[in-house]
Amino acid sequence: MDIASFILLTIIIIVIVNTIYSTKYKVVNMPSAPNTRKAIIKDLKSLKGDCANLRIYDCGSGWGGLCKKLSKFFPNATVTGIEISPIPFIVSYFNPFRRYKVKRDNLFKIDLSNIDVLIFYLSPHHMEQLSKKLKNNTKENVIIYSQGFPILELEASEIIGIPYALEKKLYRYDL
Ligand SMILES: C[S@@+](CC[C@H](N)C(=O)[O-])C[C@H]1O[C@@H](n2cnc3c(N)ncnc32)[C@H](O)[C@@H]1O
Repeated sequence: MDIASFILLTIIIIVIVNTIYSTKYKVVNMPSAPNTRKAIIKDLKSLKGDCANLRIYDCGSGWGGLCKKLSKFFPNATVTGIEISPIPFIVSYFNPFRRYKVKRDNLFKIDLSNIDVLIFYLSPHHMEQLSKKLKNNTKENVIIYSQGFPILELEASEIIGIPYALEKKLYRYDL
């Protein structure tokens, strides 16, 4: 096999694996918009300052872009990405500038009860499935952000409009 065919085959395998995982977990690995990331950082800064010693989880961290941004702006916080899909996980894990942690795991199966800030960008289906867990198994004073989709069982403390972003709104829940 020549090098061009090998590269093409590798790309095809990557696309197929990624499509299988996106279908299985009912969400594509689309990164959040720059304006949404800015809004999360600005809002979190206004609430928690430099977030020193806080544990921040990006639940469904995709390619790791949001984790990278959070770890840059909050260097004294522990930023962790949780990602189930292998290709984005590998890409974010081997990021040479990584200052965040990343774990390959299913966010429905992990313990979220000792995390200070939880961030999601998933789908209405996921947020509905997660609402009970978030209501009953999270830390006191936890801050939850959901990009694009409300958590219907909880009352949002803040809804922030996001210009030029597909996700349009950022929902914050202070439990
Ligand atoms: C829209 S992307 C979010 C990307 C990132 N959070 C951001 O803001 O740029 C959603 C990610 O959630 C992941 N995901 C979906 N279900 C999951 C699960 N049960 N456990 C962990 N990750 C999951 C998908 O593989 C996908 O990469």
